[in-house]
Amino acid sequence: MKTNSQNINIKRIQRISRNFFLHIHSPKIHPHALRPTYTFGLGVILAFLFLIMIITGFILMMNYTPSVEQAYNSVKDIVFVVPGGKYIRNIHRWAAHGMVLVTFLHLTRTFLTGSYFGKRKWNWIIGICMLLVVMFMSFSGYLLPWDQLAYWAVTIGSNIAASARELTDILGITNVLDIGGFFKKLLIGDETVGQTALTRFFMLHVVFLPITLMVLTGWHFWRIRKDGGLSRPLREESASPQVLKPSSLQYSKAGNLMSDDVKFQDRSDPDRERPPVVQAHGSISSKNQDTLRADKRIYTWPVLMWIELSLLLFTTTIILIMAFVFDAPLREQANISFPENPAKSSWYFLGIQELVSYSAFTGGLLIPLLFIAFLISIPFIDKEDRFSGIWFSGKQGLKIGAVTILYSLLITVILVFIAVKFGWFREWFGDIPGFIIMIINPGTLSALFYILWSILIKTRTGSTRMAAIALFLCAMTGLIIYTSIGIWFRGPNWDFYWSQSQWPMI
Ligand code: HEM
Repeated sequence: MKTNSQNINIKRIQRISRNFFLHIHSPKIHPHALRPTYTFGLGVILAFLFLIMIITGFILMMNYTPSVEQAYNSVKDIVFVVPGGKYIRNIHRWAAHGMVLVTFLHLTRTFLTGSYFGKRKWNWIIGICMLLVVMFMSFSGYLLPWDQLAYWAVTIGSNIAASARELTDILGITNVLDIGGFFKKLLIGDETVGQTALTRFFMLHVVFLPITLMVLTGWHFWRIRKDGGLSRPLREESASPQVLKPSSLQYSKAGNLMSDDVKFQDRSDPDRERPPVVQAHGSISSKNQDTLRADKRIYTWPVLMWIELSLLLFTTTIILIMAFVFDAPLREQANISFPENPAKSSWYFLGIQELVSYSAFTGGLLIPLLFIAFLISIPFIDKEDRFSGIWFSGKQGLKIGAVTILYSLLITVILVFIAVKFGWFREWFGDIPGFIIMIINPGTLSALFYILWSILIKTRTGSTRMAAIALFLCAMTGLIIYTSIGIWFRGPNWDFYWSQSQWPMI
């Protein structure tokens, strides 16, 4: 006979496991994962933003024509003729920006809570692939309106793709081995942005990248369950396991634990309760003692569903408010003979564009590649999993993090200040060889100072986790500073201005 509470619990599990959409969740979840200040709901918000983009993207696609002659007018039609088209476009645009922003925030949260240890490293790496897809998806969509903003932003982007040319030019081998040219051609299919680029970007934006992101998202979610739910502190589980008394449990004649929960356990969840084997004299073998730890997890239904519903409402409300208050920009039709000055890339590439202004090769290729390599290699270098599931890995990490942000802020601002106020080697020494500026410039020096700081932290603390936190926060602070300079302080000819009102009339 099942008790009333057993019946309720079975229903809670069935609600999740028998529903096509909900069965992506585990029937039970650890309360640690539900703490609002642990995840800030960022992953779920991202999933909803992606959903919003797919729905609005479909509507836009029905009215858009991907040809150089008609693209701009079709977007104008969407804005001025199609009923509600303007708002659909606004929603799509702000959700896209939101996705890039929230992906960075989510990456930062998973890093700072040490969610890349052990098996979770694979989800971390899948996440990095998702970051790249999200950025590229947003960037490829940027070209589609075919206005001045789109055209010149993508032209800048394609020049960034060709940054390896600086190195091959210096080595005098561009004629033989034009790596930069190869990447540029791969991206836009030509020397300049034209119909080939538009067709390529359209296909990438509406077919290839969304499908890739869907597959990666599915894989990401599946891995979360495979990894036993979200990360949480190890100590909480191992320090004082609450062992259930054998007498408090009900067993079948065969000696298996009679819990309805057990029957419905998610088999892929390594944390699930396994029925312990009861020995003939009624005691539980020591091997199975640990499986009898009180299951601290709670039922996903209904609590997680309420949280997710609130996040959906929150995300939708913010995007709707943005869409009603701010219109997505649409400038004049792209004009190849009138370059924008300053020609700026999309905001999330402006940090790289700022670095490119010092050196195309190191700023556009080397430093971004080093950063991605660092992100990918973290789980293989830092294995101090005792820090798993704790923000900043505790007080020491928090202190190091705060000092690191100040350090990186200071170093980066000083280097940019020197370059803006006094110029760099070319202004000081005239015809200095290009490769010296390529190697020594504010971007490379920032990266060097970040790495030195991380080595110092490793020597002082002996901890790879602390060194990783130091390097990550240095790089993120640097990225924010360089991006902010690109967004707010660069004007015509990429000169520095305190505000747009100081820009000269051109
Ligand atoms: C479209 C992009 C993404 C979506 C939709 C997404 C979605 C999610 C969701 C729903 C969760 C569980 C809840 C949460 O942590 O908030 C999660 C966890 C996780 N995500 Fe993502 N994510 C994305 C990108 C990324 C990126 C860029 C990274 C990092 C490189 C990443 C790494 C992780 C990791 C390691 C976990 C497990 C966290 C833990 O165990 O605590 N994800 N993701």
